[in-house]
Amino acid sequence: MGHRFFPAEGGRKFLVIDKISSRPYSPGMRIIAISNNKGGVGKTTCTVNIAGALHQRGKKVMVIDLDHQAQTTYHLGLNPKSIDRSIYHVLAEELEYRDILIDRGGIHVLPSSSILKDIELMPIPAKEFLLKDAMQSLEEYDFVLIDCPPSLGVLTMNALTFAQEIFIPLQVQFLPFHGMYNLFEAVQMVKKRLNRNIAVTGIIGTMYNASKSINREVIEETQKRLPGKLFTTLIRENVSLQEAPSWGKTIFEYKPDSNGATDYSNLTDEILERPVPQED
Ligand SMILES: Nc1ncnc2c1ncn2[C@@H]1O[C@H](COP(=O)(O)OP(=O)(O)O)[C@@H](O)[C@H]1O
Ligand SMILES: [Mg+2]
Repeated sequence: MGHRFFPAEGGRKFLVIDKISSRPYSPGMRIIAISNNKGGVGKTTCTVNIAGALHQRGKKVMVIDLDHQAQTTYHLGLNPKSIDRSIYHVLAEELEYRDILIDRGGIHVLPSSSILKDIELMPIPAKEFLLKDAMQSLEEYDFVLIDCPPSLGVLTMNALTFAQEIFIPLQVQFLPFHGMYNLFEAVQMVKKRLNRNIAVTGIIGTMYNASKSINREVIEETQKRLPGKLFTTLIRENVSLQEAPSWGKTIFEYKPDSNGATDYSNLTDEILERPVPQED
């Protein structure tokens, strides 16, 4: 493949070959997309509570809300309706990421707002690189967690182009493998065309209920079909996890003694121990 230039609006040039091979970030920084094209599987809950647990462990954490429904923004106690500077303005090159960053008790948030869906319609070439480009000057973080929308559209592609890792929340109460294959196929495509460094680190089993046999079946199937990918810690069904968003709190701030807090704490220990996969 030769050098392919994609002129962007405003005269900016994209040198795609360089972008695919470059890894401009510090080797210690982990950039993780939390993605599943199915909605309601626990992406937002994972993003907020893993961020909370990492922050508790003294890690420097950034959360990027890349869903126009802005539920992560809301879950972190910010009102998307009153936010007039969101990740949309960064992707549209109107603002720098630092202009929209909110320090929310030590967790740095790039909030979303409903206008974000307009990115889908904007006539910009090589749109998958908008986030990565906007984050070229990203300062040092231990973890950057990106909450993705429930689709494989351009915003998810932006997350997968910028990230090095993917965590896939999987609701273990259904047999959702068809959708997961679409996601794995998309990851392979991203790897080939947009980001060589992307890999699925792990699958997070969510809303686990030991009394329902379907839960065990899904877990066994996942272990069989995708060996080594499922995190050992399962996130149990827990009503406190459901309640925390409307208080604008992580589970550690809302109910630190709940099963939800225990599970997200154990999961985070596992995340810190599990090496970043080199090949997928
Ligand atoms: N472990 C859990 N137990 C009970 N409810 C949960 C759990 N995890 C998430 N939920 C709830 O399920 C719904 C969907 O979760 P969410 O994280 O918003 O999914 P997604 O971001 O994938 O759409 C939310 O109402 C959330 O509070
Ligand atoms: Mg969500």
